[in-house]
Amino acid sequence: MGRMAAYSAAVVEHFEHPRNAGELESPDGEATVANPVCGDRMRVMLRIADGRIAEMRWLTRGCPPAIATSSWTSELVTGWTLAEAEGLTREAIAEGVGGLPQDKLHCSVLAADALRRAIADYRRRAP
Ligand code: FES
Repeated sequence: MGRMAAYSAAVVEHFEHPRNAGELESPDGEATVANPVCGDRMRVMLRIADGRIAEMRWLTRGCPPAIATSSWTSELVTGWTLAEAEGLTREAIAEGVGGLPQDKLHCSVLAADALRRAIADYRRRAP
């Protein structure tokens, strides 16, 4: 078990049973970001309908908190307006998964950043 003991129940649960992981075919918006602290990467793919996130899928190559926050965020923002999703902060994500160890706080930046950039990509493509 080791290091997993440092994580909240929600982090462990989402890490072991990730939601919405995988590819989305022909996404309406997508982005890949690398964490400047550790180099871990996350790709977010979005399906947008009526100004809302209809579906978020993701591929993350990273630590357990990176996987868990990717999964948690994808569930949270489904059905949200783009403006709501753009306002989601990494602090809110870290708090939402029950907190992260001090040296893992930076892991929540991936989901927040990648989501925001995928929405920006959608807005760029939109007529
Ligand atoms: Fe890189 Fe967690 S150590 S995202």
